[in-house]
This record gives sequence, structure tokens and C-alpha cells, in this order.
Amino acid sequence: MKIIINDNELQVKEGKTILEAALEAGIKIPTLCYHKELAPYGACRLCVVEIAGGARPSLQASCLYKVSEGLVIKTDSERVRRARKIVIELLLALSPDSDKLKTLAKEYGAENTRLKPKNKGNCILCGLCARVCSEIVGMSAVNFSHRGIERKIRTPFDKINDSCIGCGACAYLCPTGAIKIEQA
Ligand code: FES
Repeated sequence: MKIIINDNELQVKEGKTILEAALEAGIKIPTLCYHKELAPYGACRLCVVEIAGGARPSLQASCLYKVSEGLVIKTDSERVRRARKIVIELLLALSPDSDKLKTLAKEYGAENTRLKPKNKGNCILCGLCARVCSEIVGMSAVNFSHRGIERKIRTPFDKINDSCIGCGACAYLCPTGAIKIEQA
């Protein structure tokens, strides 16, 4: 099927997401919770793009949104950049020490966040650690617990978990350095 991203007409296979189509065409979209080997989760919202044209232009997470015939997409419009700036401000409040977020904040003019740092150990709840552990490693040594503002990534019952094989995949994929590996 045909779609248009930033005025480029692309041939894309059905079932792809906008993010996959863009990456394959060499079009950059920033992401934090996406990894090509893992199921998309849509947690960070940094990959937001504008679905232009039609009666109701909208902002959508490109890692979740599937392409359809004739879709017209803007990946770096004014509206997109404004939305990303807000997302980065929110994430920076959760993870003020993250170099990756600091770099993004510079790029999107979000350095002077109006939000107070929440000091939650730099975790932005992207879920990459939990997904790599369950989908690739085949364990669930870390996972989400609690709901709403109490939501956290934890080991079961906050205990050292026997199912952890110490592979370090969670720490490796963590975009904000929130997971540290300690030698036993
Ligand atoms: Fe799409 Fe995080 S990369 S929501």
C-alpha cells in the first residue's frame, strides 16, 4: 500500500506500523520504549507523529499505529515537536539524570522543565526491561507492580529473584540507566 511520510510517497507492507515504515525509509522518529525485537508497548509517547489530512488530523504513537492506504504522516511538524517537548518534560521529571533525556531536552527545547523531579530512581516505566525478560529471556524476573502513580518496576515481592539469570539484558536496554547490575 501507499503512504506519504513528510511528502515522500512510500510503498509499505500491510501490518507495519508507522514507525517501522519510517525507519525502513530512513526517516528518524525518536523512541524510548521501542525495540524492534519486542512487542510495542506505547509507554513513552515520544514517537508521536501527526496523521495529517482527513477530517480530523490527530497525534498518534507511531510505534502502535498501523499503516493504511493513503495515510499522510508528518513526523516533525510544529505540532509534533510541541507534543514531544511536553513528553520530554514529563519524562525528565521522572528521570532527571538520564543523559539520553537531557540530549532530547536540548533538541526539543525542554531543558527548563516546569515539573519538579519526582526522584523515582530514573525509571520512566517504559517496560523494556520487563518485556525483554519475558519475551526474549523467557523469565519474568522484573515486572510492573502497583497502579497509577504507584506503578513501579520490581522483582516479585521486592526480593532477590531466583528466576533472574543475571544476563543483564534489562540493564542493557534500559534507556535511562535506571537498572544497575551488581555482582553477588
Ligand atoms: Fe512509541 Fe514509546 S516508542 S510510545
